[in-house]
This record gives sequence, structure tokens and C-alpha cells, in this order.
Amino acid sequence: MAQPIKIHRLSETMGAEIIGVDLNDLDDATFDQINQAYLKYQMLCIRNQDLKPAAMVQFSERFGDVLPHDNLKFTLDTHPKILVLSNDVDANGNQIGVIDAGDAWHSDHQFKEHPANCTILYSVKNPSRGGHTDFANMYNAYDALPERTKTQILKLRGHHSISKLKNKRVEISGARKDAIEFYKRQEREIPDVTHPLVRVHPVTGRKSLYCSPRFTIAIEGNGLSTEDADTLLDELIAHSIKTEFRYRHVWHDGDVVMWDNRCTNHRATGGYEYPDIRHLYRTTVEGEATS
Ligand code: SIN
Repeated sequence: MAQPIKIHRLSETMGAEIIGVDLNDLDDATFDQINQAYLKYQMLCIRNQDLKPAAMVQFSERFGDVLPHDNLKFTLDTHPKILVLSNDVDANGNQIGVIDAGDAWHSDHQFKEHPANCTILYSVKNPSRGGHTDFANMYNAYDALPERTKTQILKLRGHHSISKLKNKRVEISGARKDAIEFYKRQEREIPDVTHPLVRVHPVTGRKSLYCSPRFTIAIEGNGLSTEDADTLLDELIAHSIKTEFRYRHVWHDGDVVMWDNRCTNHRATGGYEYPDIRHLYRTTVEGEATS
């Protein structure tokens, strides 16, 4: 029997919270309700979880293949599909998690041939201030574009790269000591890709704007000069982060937040400092090739 769950909208723009579910003990009927809400609201917060790592992986696997992480240094020893995001340190003062994940607007794995479907974050510990996550509804961003821009970008492709070294629109966090070496290695291992700027969601069929300051470094298309492409990319990025498309998630301990990378962008807001600890577990589920 399905768990008696309640679903409430989190904002006019996007997002819903789910109350009354225990993800450690999830039946198929309850999962179906969560999945429908996920497709409808694009971002979900499942409250009051005390989530075991194995249950987090199992829940994630209901949405598709859970990807190994590029950064193996900070995965859980017992569950390597779970990445630790944290500003905490061990007894020797070494970082125990990724400290600068997602500090610029992006969609996860946009730099891969098969970008992510959903990302799932479980909040173990929140700082006393800051540490929020901002989301942007990229269906709404697309829908609100002028018709002439929709026509102009229909056949254009975004060029995406994992490397911050190639991207003039982002800064490298001072908190990452090995940044240059880290991004150079990623450049060698993960070749750049292109995807349509107008992405069609494989399940809902809706169109969204598919670009971000973190991973989109250029726009490619017949007859477009580099300069015009650069200006267009600046305009699309500025449009996509307008406040009317946004929802800010203020975390509570025990929140499990998941979002659909096929129609949203997000960023971590920062604004907290050690020893005020922010500690989360993350899984990423592989998605489809874009169309
Ligand atoms: C991410 O972009 O994966 C991290 C988001 C966050 O930590 O709020």
C-alpha cells in the first residue's frame, strides 16, 4: 500500500515538498507518486529523512543508472556512488568532501554526451547561515523568450566544457588548492560536447533553454560569427537567471532534494564558513542523449 504522502508547492515558479514518506522503506506505488511530482514540479524536497546510504543509492537507481563520480577522492568508502559535499575536515585538517561544488549556475553533466537526469542531495548537516541552493525553471525561461529569439536559436548548439580554465564566465574557487592541475586533468579525460540550445524533455516533450554560465563556453551554428555568438550567449544566460524563473531552497537537516537537470539550472549560494559545517551526500543519475 502507498504511504500517505502530502505534496505542497514550494513556489509559484517550481518545486514541491513531500511530507510523510520514508525513503528507507519505499514501495512502488509511493515511488510512482514521487516520480509524477518530480516530472510536474521539476524539483522536490522530501522532508524529515534519516536516509541510509544503501537506501539513497536504491532510491536513486529507480530513476536510472547512478553514475560513478569524476572526483573519487570524496566518495563514501562503503558506497562509492555517493559523493560527499562538505566544508568539514578530518583530524589532520584535510578536507573530507568537495568544498566548491556548483558555485556557478549549471545543469549537471551538461559537458557529457549523456547529461544527468536527476541529482539527489541528502542534507546531513546545515550551517547556521547561508548554504542555500538556487534553482531556475528553464522551461519558463524558454517560454518567455521573444519569438524571434526562439526562431534564431532553434537550430543552434551550445558548446560545453567541464574545464573552468576554458571558461571566461566563471571564477576558480580559492578553496580548491589543486585547481589548475585538477581542471587540466578533467580537460584531458572529458572531451567537450555540443547539445541543442533548445532541449526537448524526453518524457514531458516540453522545450527548455539549455545553457549555463558554468559549462556553456560558446554557441555554434551556421553563419554566426564568434562575436555574435558570444553576445547571444551572454543574453541567454542573463535571461535564464531572471528572478521570475527562480526558486531558492533554504535547507533543513534531513531534507532530500532532487531536481530534473533536463529542465532546470541550479547553483550553490555559499555564504558560510568553517567551522559552520554544511555536509551533504549526493548521487547523480545518468540521463538520455539530448534532442
Ligand atoms: C551541486 O551543484 O551539485 C551542489 C549544489 C549545492 O551544494 O547546493
